[in-house]
Amino acid sequence: MKNVVLIGFMGCGKTTVGIGLSYRLKRPVEDTDKRIEREQGMTVSEIFASQGEETFRKLETQLLECMCREECCRIVATGGGLPMRPENRSLLKELGSVVYLRVQPETVYERLKEDTTRPLLQGENPMGRIRSMLEQRHPVYQQTADLVVDVDDLTVEEIVDKIECRLTGRCE
Ligand code: S3P
Repeated sequence: MKNVVLIGFMGCGKTTVGIGLSYRLKRPVEDTDKRIEREQGMTVSEIFASQGEETFRKLETQLLECMCREECCRIVATGGGLPMRPENRSLLKELGSVVYLRVQPETVYERLKEDTTRPLLQGENPMGRIRSMLEQRHPVYQQTADLVVDVDDLTVEEIVDKIECRLTGRCE
């Protein structure tokens, strides 16, 4: 099996599900945000504040290019905005099997209402922002994915079960 790449909106659980899948499939997990933070020596918020979103987006593309050249096989958890650049969508598909963790706006709001680490959700009317961004992004996530899992009512364990079953054919 190729790399397994998790995409989806902020708060859909890419990082947590990535760790669960990593245990289940006995593969290392890599998180694009965490790797960018490590390589830049700055948090995502600091990069947005000091260099702007466009710089962050370039770093995401460069990292994907780099990961496509690295060895298989791992679990890759991506930043929520990463599939929005067309060139990143080709790179994601090249990287591995793409799994979209689909989440409802209410779930995102509940999970992230106290969060301060997502620069795009700070400020007025976070619920409105979540709704409009999700509306814009959902078709792109859907179009990029080989597999879609609705995560709102599932535990991490159940999400991992579904992904394992669909990608490996090992189903309970
Ligand atoms: C972003 C999502 C974040 C992070 C950055 C931008 C986005 O990652 O990459 O704040 O544009 O949706 P998570 O999806 O892991 O929160």
